[in-house]
Amino acid sequence: MPTALVSGVSRGLGAHLCRALRAAGHRVLGVGLSPSPGGDHVDDYRALDLREPLADDLFAAEDVDVLVNNAGVYLDDPRGGYGDLFSLTPDDLRDTFEVNLFGTARLVQRYAPRMLARGSGRIVCVSSGMGRLQDADGASFAYRSSKLAANSLVLSVARHFAEASGDLAAFAYCPGWIRTDMGTPDAPNEPAPAAGDLVRLLGVPAGRSNGRFFRGLDELGWDTRGPMVADAD
Ligand SMILES: NC(=O)c1ccc[n+]([C@@H]2O[C@H](COP(=O)([O-])OP(=O)(O)OC[C@H]3O[C@@H](n4cnc5c(N)ncnc54)[C@H](OP(=O)(O)O)[C@@H]3O)[C@@H](O)[C@H]2O)c1
Repeated sequence: MPTALVSGVSRGLGAHLCRALRAAGHRVLGVGLSPSPGGDHVDDYRALDLREPLADDLFAAEDVDVLVNNAGVYLDDPRGGYGDLFSLTPDDLRDTFEVNLFGTARLVQRYAPRMLARGSGRIVCVSSGMGRLQDADGASFAYRSSKLAANSLVLSVARHFAEASGDLAAFAYCPGWIRTDMGTPDAPNEPAPAAGDLVRLLGVPAGRSNGRFFRGLDELGWDTRGPMVADAD
């Protein structure tokens, strides 16, 4: 039975991911900020603040076949009344990167080498179309740039995986706009189908998923070339 480690499991997309992974036959390990996972959808759980260094013994005895970096924060969300780039505080910028990039990178650095050594594994970063440069606007700089950086992390891992022999893939996944605490009740889509699509992508051959950026089951792509800010008339 393959083992999956998911971050941010007590609610939102992460809770649905755990259920979908278990339905697909995975043993599921969870980490998150909450003291408990808030249900029986994980096989084992550790409370973990991704802003802090990882404990040396975090699931040390486990062979993690699948790492899903799902936890994330959107602190500079204008829908919550946050202002634009010029209102962004250094603390919020730092905290966003601590969770969305540094925490993600720590988990990748912990578990990717073991996948490389074994010659098999999947690493997914739950990203956002907002991390694409072409979609940038004047707000949400912390969130957008943290997801852009996480996308770069995915590509770096994917290059390592491509150079190794074996069944290895790292990809980014945008769930679309979904109804969660982050997505708000106004979101048009439910999180369960997005979780199901991500789990289906884990079964795609590595050659067709490594180094790619998906939204649902479709390839979203990283960015376009060319000028991204229109000239003033
Ligand atoms: N919702 C959308 O429309 C949407 C769109 C595009 C991308 N995404 C991405 O999808 C992922 C899941 O988002 P969601 O909508 O499910 O958000 P959510 O409901 O707000 O849940 C966020 C999750 O992140 C975890 N988390 C936050 N700070 C943490 C920390 N310091 N340490 C450990 N865990 C922490 C939370 O852990 P606890 O459960 O323990 O509190 C929670 O499980 C995120 O990466 C987000 O950027 C969401």
